Amino acid sequence: SVETLKDGILSATSSKESNDLSGFDVRKDESTVSITVVGASGDLAKKKIFPALFALYYEDCLPKHFTIFGYARSKMTDDELRTMVSKTLTCRIDKRENCGEKMEEFLKRCFYQSGQYDSRENFVELDKKLRQREAGRIANRLFYLSIPPNIFIDAVRCASLSASSANGWTRVIVEKPFGRDSESSAALTNGLKQYLKEDQIFRIDHYLGKELVENLSVLRFSNLIFEPLWSRQYIRNVQLIFSEDFGTEGRGGYFDHYGIIRDIMQNHLLQILALFAMETPVSLDAEDIRNEKVKVLRSMRPLQLDDVVIGQYKSQTRGGVTYPGYTEDKTVPKDSLTPTFAAAALFIDNARWDGVPFLMKAGKALHNRSAEIRVQFRHVPGNLYARNFGSNLDQSMNELVIRVQPDEAIYLKINNKVPGLGMRLDRSTLNLHYAARYAKEIPDAYERLLLDAVEGERRLFIRSDELDAAWALFTPLLKELEQKKVNPEYYPYGSRGPVGAHYLAARYNVRWG
Ligand code: NDP
Ligand code: BG6
Repeated sequence: SVETLKDGILSATSSKESNDLSGFDVRKDESTVSITVVGASGDLAKKKIFPALFALYYEDCLPKHFTIFGYARSKMTDDELRTMVSKTLTCRIDKRENCGEKMEEFLKRCFYQSGQYDSRENFVELDKKLRQREAGRIANRLFYLSIPPNIFIDAVRCASLSASSANGWTRVIVEKPFGRDSESSAALTNGLKQYLKEDQIFRIDHYLGKELVENLSVLRFSNLIFEPLWSRQYIRNVQLIFSEDFGTEGRGGYFDHYGIIRDIMQNHLLQILALFAMETPVSLDAEDIRNEKVKVLRSMRPLQLDDVVIGQYKSQTRGGVTYPGYTEDKTVPKDSLTPTFAAAALFIDNARWDGVPFLMKAGKALHNRSAEIRVQFRHVPGNLYARNFGSNLDQSMNELVIRVQPDEAIYLKINNKVPGLGMRLDRSTLNLHYAARYAKEIPDAYERLLLDAVEGERRLFIRSDELDAAWALFTPLLKELEQKKVNPEYYPYGSRGPVGAHYLAARYNVRWG
């Protein structure tokens, strides 16, 4: 019967462990990986997950025996899924002639099972189909929960009790949001842990899969010149900036329940901050890295309302085109106070960072799309060339910019003599521009993260204690904003955001880069 098919908690054998068990590589050849995209009919699955899986297949990164299943309530045949998926696959990595062929091969490995997210019977049907494809091999199974958060636990319960692997590993990728405050996040974690062990849960923050975010550690720990400067002694402030030049179009319903602080700051920007500020980990092992990140988060002061500015975009007409305000979205209540912009000053109370403001800024419907880390260094003490900068010494400040996107780059602003007989100084940049330096296209964050999940590499996924520490910083502020019904500052669609963000920065003697 359905009830006796599986016995509750799953065994969590990593790929490393299963290889260790066998002792022979041949076991690896005999194993198969099945990836089930739960919520396959949705936006994220079409936009990111299937294209990333195809890119991995194209690059020969997927195991020899793999199968992909789409699972959702929508009725679809295997062929209909393939048609849907094929529309979003691209040959962006390499435009060799065999791309079309590769697509055909990939699509032949894609299948579909329709079912409810809370039906164990439907997951038993999925299990049967998975077994057919696995053909008696050691079956490793990865479930990607690409569904709204209110049905995460139902889907995990059914997948774990009725469709987990009998002899290999079973892992589950969970998409954000991981709750909306400390309590709901803890409830989600407890719910997941009824059916999964922590090392089976892969909480995705796709910013950790971005090339320049992953490179942060390399930059810091493999270059002698940066690490000695990486502290309050030389760094004056750090800025973490996210901006998008479009609004919440189409996602207003989701967004209004979360707002920009939960959507971007508490996860993407805070994760970057932790990687930026952590101490040197003992090794590159996932647990060592995540231990250091947790220490940074736990050394931070919870956010104070005084150190936060919130904004919401309003409509704007430019060049004869009217861009709608946030509350004009039909899925958003007319009187919504949900912030679509926020700026905040954060502090890490440890020996390395005491007193250094970490300024975060995140907004939708701004003038550009970008994600950057800006590090402003202190003035040169007793600067011999101070007089060349007139009254504004800030103009001589060194600044390191890590442009995460678009057009990835790392550049350092320095002072340089303008060539010639006189003594004129110029602000110049040492520029590592990725497009000019590296011919190969940068993989999408989802490719890296999916591959890591298949390989059992947890370094770029969020551990539950990291999540708890992150929520502990933001929950009191979020509650206060909601209880006091703090009004956002309104800013026009396509502008640079509310002026309050500049006053906040000025309070800490900072100018946004
Ligand atoms: P969708 O709203 O497109 O939902 C995915 C699928 O889930 C739908 O195709 C639908 O499939 C099913 N579904 C939707 N609503 C419900 C419901 N109320 N009850 C039961 N099933 C439902 O989500 P996305 O694809 O946009 O996102 C998936 C997950 O990823 C979410 O957790 C989201 O927060 C997260 N995420 C999304 C991003 C994006 O860019 N879209 C970015 C970052 C995270 P069917 O009806 O066929 O069952
Ligand atoms: C998601 C947010 O996590 O990240 C979205 O929910 C945001 O609101 C998106 O648009 C940005 O991701 P990227 O990779 O396009 O910068």
